[in-house]
Amino acid sequence: DPAVVKLRKPDNEEHGTRVRVFGRVHRERKQKDVIFVTLRDGYGFMQCILTGQLAKSYNAITLTRETSMEIVGEMYALPPGAHAPDNRELHADYFNVPRGWKAPGGEDAITNMVQAKGDPQTLLDRRHLTLRGEVASAVMFVRDAVEFAFHQVYRETRCRKVSPPALVQTQVEGGATLFKFDYYGEQAYLTQSSQLYLETCLPSMGDVYCIEKSFRAEKSLTRRHLSEYTHVEAELDFITFDDLLTHLEQVMCRVLEITMADPIIAKYIKDLNPEFQMPSRPFKRMKYAEAIDWLREHDIPNEEGQPHTFGDDIAEAAERRMTDIINRPIFLTHFPVEIKAFYMQKDKEDPRVTESVDCLMPGVGEIVGGSMRMDDYDELMAAYQREGIDPAPYYWYTDQRKYGSSPHGGYGLGLERFLAWLCKQHTVRDCCLYPRYMGRCTP
Ligand code: 4AD
Ligand code: MG
Repeated sequence: DPAVVKLRKPDNEEHGTRVRVFGRVHRERKQKDVIFVTLRDGYGFMQCILTGQLAKSYNAITLTRETSMEIVGEMYALPPGAHAPDNRELHADYFNVPRGWKAPGGEDAITNMVQAKGDPQTLLDRRHLTLRGEVASAVMFVRDAVEFAFHQVYRETRCRKVSPPALVQTQVEGGATLFKFDYYGEQAYLTQSSQLYLETCLPSMGDVYCIEKSFRAEKSLTRRHLSEYTHVEAELDFITFDDLLTHLEQVMCRVLEITMADPIIAKYIKDLNPEFQMPSRPFKRMKYAEAIDWLREHDIPNEEGQPHTFGDDIAEAAERRMTDIINRPIFLTHFPVEIKAFYMQKDKEDPRVTESVDCLMPGVGEIVGGSMRMDDYDELMAAYQREGIDPAPYYWYTDQRKYGSSPHGGYGLGLERFLAWLCKQHTVRDCCLYPRYMGRCTP
């Protein structure tokens, strides 16, 4: 019995070996006496050739796409440029449909699903099938590689991984986007960010990070907002704002380096995003105040259609236009106190603004938000008051400022937004397994 191999090059490219493969019919082409079946197993594709009696019996049972098959045969290496995945093919001498499980007909429907053709809502209803498509699965392969690379880079930078709770009773990024639920008769929320919990780990564990889900009840439908997303967050102790920016740049570039060092993943990225280039360091730095001037000079209005003035939120559309024109990563820094979260440290030179940073990427806009944290107890209490937040439920957070406070900061990166940029996807919905957003909680 020949060994079972996965369809992944180079594990099985040896010319002349007999192998057994399992996969699903991805596509097929029939000629008079020859049938070309491309099998897919999640690792790769293999063109299998059925001739003679095998072709006859294949035709007799009229196999449909997506049917699972076992095929045994001999591997043939083909010359470069041949019309077969990875320039190889399997000359079959045996095939079997396990337990006779034929996928139902409707060839066109399933082909359209897998090739992601049709109206977006239907495709999302059929996400369990569209995931089988070449583009959808390529994005998931890149996602797997990128997530793993983040873990590796945090190991290299001596950040420890922790796993904060998802069920909480405090907010981080404003009450408007909280998902509330009944927790044994008490009000609780799904976490918006693990930041506050990461901060509490610094005295015991040093620099820490987590890759967890965050939840936001976003009441508008955009191409970069999800209700549930994967949040890469880190918190660093005894640092300056400059240290924070340098660290962030280093982590992002190193993640890209590791990801691109895998030739299979690099090929997926090149296919999805042919113009991809490693960003050059240092990233462009731009203060919020300069961005306001820049937006005015370029006649890009604010949300009311007026020229931007200091204190305005830079909305998604304006932010994206700016990033697309500048066309490289930007660290946008020093946002005004009023438009940022309560916990952000004020700039020593200019108390109107915070030591805050958003990292903006072409095509997506903001993919990271970070800041230095307010480390003075009284100042933090004043910030709660200013925002109208009752500090009592935050005692475990404010205690940090009593028992050995320190200059520290951190950030959160939206994994789906990072992938939308890297894989040049129109929407973050295509960068996660089963997207959740207002109006969709299925499949
Ligand atoms: O800018 P945000 O709200 O910052 C925080 O949550 C900080 N507490 C993080 C920290 O400092 N530890 O969110 C951080 C990032 C955003 O830049 C964005 O990439 C992503 O999280 N994000 C979302 N991604 C998808 N859907 C949403 N609804 C998102 N909201 C934020
Ligand atoms: Mg933000």
